[in-house]
Amino acid sequence: MASVLRPAISAMPGYTPGEQPQESGWIKLNTNENPYPPSPTVVDAIRQEASGPLNIYPDPGATEFRKAAAALYGVDPDWVLPANGSDENLTIITRAFCDADDRQGYPYPSYVLYETLAQIQGCPIERLLLDENWQWTPEDATRLRESCKVFFVPNPNSPSGTVWSPEQLLELLPNHGILVLDEAYGDFVEQPHRGELLHDPRFDGRLVITRTFSKSYSLAGIRFGFCLAHPDLVQGMNRVKDSYNCDAVAIAAATAAINDQPWMLNNTRKILATRSRLAEQLTTLGFHVCPGQANFIWVTHPSGEHRGIYEQLKQRRILIRLMTFPHSGGDRRGLEGLRITIGTDQQVQVLVDALKQILD
Ligand SMILES: Cc1ncc(COP(=O)(O)O)c(C=O)c1O
Repeated sequence: MASVLRPAISAMPGYTPGEQPQESGWIKLNTNENPYPPSPTVVDAIRQEASGPLNIYPDPGATEFRKAAAALYGVDPDWVLPANGSDENLTIITRAFCDADDRQGYPYPSYVLYETLAQIQGCPIERLLLDENWQWTPEDATRLRESCKVFFVPNPNSPSGTVWSPEQLLELLPNHGILVLDEAYGDFVEQPHRGELLHDPRFDGRLVITRTFSKSYSLAGIRFGFCLAHPDLVQGMNRVKDSYNCDAVAIAAATAAINDQPWMLNNTRKILATRSRLAEQLTTLGFHVCPGQANFIWVTHPSGEHRGIYEQLKQRRILIRLMTFPHSGGDRRGLEGLRITIGTDQQVQVLVDALKQILD
């Protein structure tokens, strides 16, 4: 039966999402969800929407949401495109901007889904290799700027949490294409922006910023994201998206969430404080902690026993993410490490106590 699939689909492995155990009792620090609940106003909005007319289609333009997001980022609503999670926006971008032979680039190691999306579209992939400090060389950047139609950059990066400056990002703006800043973790950085980059003439109106409600807004279970870009680009992307890509409940939830900034900011502050404490404790336990600005941290252990640590934590029902990136690192021998989502103080203490036992 596989022969009826497109050859590109038969050949690709597909994306493997992080484990989502369906039974309770796990400390889940593997997929960068927020350990705190969403704002109570979100829950009220969901209840209200669910008791409304669910027999009719939702607003295809998510008008109320777009107005709220536009106000927050200092743009007009036609700069905002809503989506069923950031991943859908990344799909829409690939479909809107890339023909089968157009090259797509991304830093490596980073978010593996970019590669999957390129494979689905049949686009050649260019990896911008990062060194042990998660930086690229200017020569590599110049080469890829010339060849790529779309360049995806998570900022902060996953799994490292690295943040690149606007000047560095500019090095990756394709000469004849667009730069996509995937800001899934953008609310956790030291100085979150409010859309200034969109108006920076150096980016020439060819910047697309993607944002999600899965992380800072505690709504991974709802599926909502959006992107910000010049209206000419948004119009094109709008032609590609499903008419009703966001359901009424998700639109109501996201609108309430974006309108309660204090709730999101308070949770974000708590997570960052926990991150500092966890980083110190892990350093004391002998881990190398990568400096980063997200709701997770990337660590390596001098023993190289990452798989063992991951498995022993899993036996204790603590899930973190073991990640391996072949052909990466300064010497290209490959990189392996552990990505740990920042949970509550209590969850993180259970993790640290377990690690003390494992490493004893
Ligand atoms: C870098 C990055 N981009 C996008 C996403 C997907 O976000 P969403 O849940 O909105 O699809 C993730 C999820 O982990 C991510 O790490």
